[in-house]
Amino acid sequence: MAFFLAVANRKGGVGKSTVAVGLAHASAVWGSKRVLVLDLDSQCNASLILQGGRGWLDAKKANRTISDYFFDMFDESAGAPRDYLVHNTGDVRDADGRALRLSLLPGSLMLEDVQGELYVKEARQAKDPDVVASRVKGRLLRLLRRFEANFDLVILDCAPGLSFAALAALKTADLVLVPFRPDYVSQLAVDRVALLIEEKRTIDDLREIDLSARRYICVANGARGNARDRNIIDEIGLDHPLLTAQLPHSEDIANAFDWDASPKRIEEKYGSATAALRTLYEEVAPVMAARLAAE
Ligand SMILES: Nc1ncnc2c1ncn2[C@@H]1O[C@H](COP(=O)(O)OP(=O)(O)O)[C@@H](O)[C@H]1O
Ligand SMILES: [Mg+2]
Repeated sequence: MAFFLAVANRKGGVGKSTVAVGLAHASAVWGSKRVLVLDLDSQCNASLILQGGRGWLDAKKANRTISDYFFDMFDESAGAPRDYLVHNTGDVRDADGRALRLSLLPGSLMLEDVQGELYVKEARQAKDPDVVASRVKGRLLRLLRRFEANFDLVILDCAPGLSFAALAALKTADLVLVPFRPDYVSQLAVDRVALLIEEKRTIDDLREIDLSARRYICVANGARGNARDRNIIDEIGLDHPLLTAQLPHSEDIANAFDWDASPKRIEEKYGSATAALRTLYEEVAPVMAARLAAE
């Protein structure tokens, strides 16, 4: 049974794709896990980090993106989910130089359109818009779950918008990681995604759920280690569960965004930020293991 880890925030540019791919690399290399990244964002950044532009274009031309997967499978027509995946992806190799057991369902610019079309398809059978919406969400959720058998960890890189796919991902996730930047709007963005994950209307309702019982954990990304950043991070930690580990603001993390044709070890990929990534991984891995054991 795979663990489903969603990475989400209502805000863009906070490091969702960076953290999603960093943890995918970390889990494959240091945890020897079979990892799948599902790119649910039409920005396709997780796909570009893992495959580069040309690799992503190849997937698009071959009709092997998440849009194709959802669209083809929605009809329950022939085709196996694994046919849509790119295996041994990314420019990181293990310590022995072998390709990682890291797979990707490439993202698509068409994901919103495809969800619209699926909505129309469902609407031919039911009239109530709430029923239609919940059917679309339910079917996408089941399609996301279909990859479960072949992986230990499935990482869902979510778009900031409220697409059906994002809602399905948040619902099915065993844990949601919420990266945030220590700035003044981050508190609001974290509040909003927390309400969505816990399906609460107000912050007062949210407060009734013990921090340790929440389905999400926040992680500070891009902190510069000054007092202002520390204050903002501490304040988020009052209202939300928060990892001790952080990813610092780092040129090496920014550079790790760029796919590179030459394979390298994880230490080369993340340079001076490798230790921070490892600390993050070592804090998240036991949380995932404990939740999986409790299921
Ligand atoms: N810790 C960091 N240090 C430096 N640059 C970062 C860091 N985290 C993310 N970035 C950069 O910020 C930009 C946005 O990050 P990204 O992961 O795409 O955010 P999101 O997925 O939330 O939109 C990217 O260019 C990325 O390389
Ligand atoms: Mg992203």
